[in-house]
Amino acid sequence: MSLFQSIEQIKEQFSKEISGEFDFEQLKVKYLGRKGLVAGLFQQMGGLTSDERPKAGKLLNELKLELTSEIEKLAVDSSVTDESTADSFDYTMPGDPQPVGAIHPLTQVLEEIKSIFNRLGFSVAYGPEVDTDFYNFEALNIPKHHPARDMQDTFYVKKDVVLRTHTSNSQIHNMLKHDPPVKIIAPGRVYRNEDISVRSYCLFHQIEGLYVDKNVTMGDLKGVLDYFAKELYGKDVKTRFRPSYFPFTEPSAEMDVSCIFCKGKGCNICKYAGWLEILGCGMVDPEVFKSVGYDPEKWTGYAFGLGIERIAMLKYGVEDIRLFYEGDIRFLRQF
Ligand code: PHE
Repeated sequence: MSLFQSIEQIKEQFSKEISGEFDFEQLKVKYLGRKGLVAGLFQQMGGLTSDERPKAGKLLNELKLELTSEIEKLAVDSSVTDESTADSFDYTMPGDPQPVGAIHPLTQVLEEIKSIFNRLGFSVAYGPEVDTDFYNFEALNIPKHHPARDMQDTFYVKKDVVLRTHTSNSQIHNMLKHDPPVKIIAPGRVYRNEDISVRSYCLFHQIEGLYVDKNVTMGDLKGVLDYFAKELYGKDVKTRFRPSYFPFTEPSAEMDVSCIFCKGKGCNICKYAGWLEILGCGMVDPEVFKSVGYDPEKWTGYAFGLGIERIAMLKYGVEDIRLFYEGDIRFLRQF
């Protein structure tokens, strides 16, 4: 068989072979390998006359190119057909989107408040959510049958054990454990037996602040809380302190910030007052110091308590407190 016939024969053989079942790697070696059929034909060129040689060389080169490109095509096709088999993976496919979680708005607000007070030298402390009457009331100068108990509707677990109605219990836990000076904030969940509505829920979150040292004044309290309000809501915010009453502070006050929506002009959120109430505070009552064994002649201090939901509702314009607890992803995705 002449070389030219061999070329035709190999072409035919190749196309027959690829129309049936074949092993891709074997096919490649068989035709294009170093000892393959095409290489074998190149070797036969030595036996040709010098007139035949250029033509044969050209045809062989064409054959080689043709088979190479056929095999390259097959390589792509076989990777596509392979896809149906379990052990193949197409790295060019876009991945399955994984939904990314987000930080709950209350946690975001809490983190922001914590970081402001950390900068002022407060460290974070915690008290228990289930506590005794002593820590939640008695030691805070709220004796049994005191009318102030009605300020907070209490869930009783059993006699003398309550779900804490405020984070002020953390004050007592902390002072009983540490000698003054004390400078803490104590965040956490609190419970009140209130009717559930857009404005109130059976649980919510507070942050308590407590600073005890020598010569602490109401001026210190006002300075710290004014700084806090400006860090939280911006430098233009104004604060004011209104006299109030809490059994564990004397004097007591409530702090308002100038309405962050209307800048104090009056709108329906501040009920045209121009001010929004955000926290309760005061100077620690000497009776509280006595109940934890601090000498009230020697030590002075201030305390404050603020509701995290209230701050978050104002910050994000949330109108229904219950949204924070329902876990509705459409609500939570917005923060
Ligand atoms: N415990 C008070 C409340 O829940 C807030 C408060 C804390 C007031 C500390 C004064 C000082 O309403």
